[in-house]
Amino acid sequence: MTVIGISGSPIANSNTDRALQIALDATGQETEFIKLSDYSYSPCRACLGCEHTNICVIKDDATDLAQRIRHADALIVAGYTPYSSLDGWTKSFLERLYQLRHQNGLMMGKPGGIIITSAVPPGNTMLPPACAHAISSATFYMMEEGMEIVGSVGILGNIPCIRCNNEEHCKMSGVKMMFGPDTVRESVKIQNIEDQKETVSALVAMGMDIGKRVENSREK
Ligand SMILES: Cc1cc2nc3c(=O)[nH]c(=O)nc-3n(C[C@H](O)[C@H](O)[C@H](O)COP(=O)(O)O)c2cc1C
Repeated sequence: MTVIGISGSPIANSNTDRALQIALDATGQETEFIKLSDYSYSPCRACLGCEHTNICVIKDDATDLAQRIRHADALIVAGYTPYSSLDGWTKSFLERLYQLRHQNGLMMGKPGGIIITSAVPPGNTMLPPACAHAISSATFYMMEEGMEIVGSVGILGNIPCIRCNNEEHCKMSGVKMMFGPDTVRESVKIQNIEDQKETVSALVAMGMDIGKRVENSREK
């Protein structure tokens, strides 16, 4: 009986990963952290090969991971926002959870939490609302499976351009796009989830809430 957290961030020890770990630790339950980019899988092929068995017919890692999620008590989905949308690792994996749906609604009633890292600075209304868009995407998955959506937390992350040596002369600089045409990458504050105190509190609160619901459902 566990709370499983999936991270769609392929970056090692990313803000997304660390935020997920904070929420998992706060559940007070046995937890499992799954970094999706450590596995190999494709999106759902819509073949309906799972319709009678709730087991996907594709022989790859998502089939096994989905069966682990089937037996978990709760799920926390953590993703990030390339092109202002939910990342492909997370989206493809959520599609593969379609196998748990048919006849039995195997995710129904399970508590779910969502964590999304995006780089749009607060108050910036010129860029697409990446965080809200990705939260919606993960929320719709949980809604459509009848999960109990406990909450969602948005985190401020870093754009890849702050690690790029060509940034100064780049026509497509994300630094300039996010922070204005005169900004240089050295002046951009590097975001660490541990410094975002209110966000950490929100992650802990969400994790504790999920933990309590798991405890309550076990007592019933
Ligand atoms: C390929 C790529 C594209 C990205 N595009 C966007 C974007 O369009 N909007 C946005 O808010 N953040 C964008 N980001 C930044 C991420 O949403 C996020 O802040 C960062 O990748 C999180 O990494 P971290 O968990 O290591 O901090 C992009 C990141 C990558 C790697």
